[in-house]
Amino acid sequence: MRHFLTLRDFNKEEILEMITLAQKIKAQTKQKHYVPYMERQALGMIFEKSSTRTRVSFETGIYQLGGIGLFLSSNDIQLGRGEPMRDTARVISRMVDMVMIRTFSQKKLDEFAAYSNVPVINGLTDEYHPVQLMADYLTMIEFGKADNPVCAYVGDGNNMAHSWLMLAAKLGFELRVSTPEGYECDAAVVVDAMRFAEESGAKLIIGNDPGAAVTGADVVTTDTWVSMGQEDEKERRVADFTGYIVDDTMMSHARDDAIFLHCLPAYRGYEVSDAVFEAHAEVIFSEAENRLHAQKGVMVWLDAHRDS
Ligand code: CP
Ligand code: NVA
Repeated sequence: MRHFLTLRDFNKEEILEMITLAQKIKAQTKQKHYVPYMERQALGMIFEKSSTRTRVSFETGIYQLGGIGLFLSSNDIQLGRGEPMRDTARVISRMVDMVMIRTFSQKKLDEFAAYSNVPVINGLTDEYHPVQLMADYLTMIEFGKADNPVCAYVGDGNNMAHSWLMLAAKLGFELRVSTPEGYECDAAVVVDAMRFAEESGAKLIIGNDPGAAVTGADVVTTDTWVSMGQEDEKERRVADFTGYIVDDTMMSHARDDAIFLHCLPAYRGYEVSDAVFEAHAEVIFSEAENRLHAQKGVMVWLDAHRDS
């Protein structure tokens, strides 16, 4: 049985298999042809943090696959009152067929997975957001930016930055990551990504100069400066991220036909200007829609690998 906890656990072929499945199921969905790949299966969806896209895409996705999604907010289940993760895992995984969790530390997610009888999917932790990157890559393919692209991530060295590093390292493309000093990616994640990059031929460039990172890029991306759980740090962060807004000046360094991706929610006037956001709205909202399709690929793939 395989879990989907971080992209570091998958090789290029496996990631592309999931993407291919997603493309096939997306095409079927667009024809209103809902193939019941996961008929009568239940997906438990545990949320310890807020969500719009992750909740709606997983709940709709499992329904379109012939199953049902159970929205389990930690405000409502005993987990939020102190029932241990390992007990929650042992109970829920005896009743459902797959689990998605959005939680704080990757350690908590790992603990759940260790005690789960069914595949577990990371719906975002402080360290990683791998399902988002599956949607991002699907969007890059659809907008013609998946053939040897140069990508630039400018912003916080957070879960999104880590996930971009893993995707690039596994698939073998060029990624430049620029963060303000003091907001670098986790050193252990970088070391891992560099190791995978040696195998895949990916070029990973890490630095503190956003203009240099974006120069000549095919894909520019960023994320909020204040992730969930960091609300108290907002004032300091906004000051420290001066010069990191992706605005027209920043985008002028990228290729003329560059696309801009954002996992959303976006905070205009902070990490992205309103003008850049609206100029790239078609890509950004296709990216959001692709959460639905990419995750169906992930779920169907995991379902097919229960015995491996
Ligand atoms: N991008 C993303 O995961 O959005 P939500 O927080 O709304 O789920
Ligand atoms: N880095 C953000 C991503 C939100 C989808 C957060 O963790 O809040």
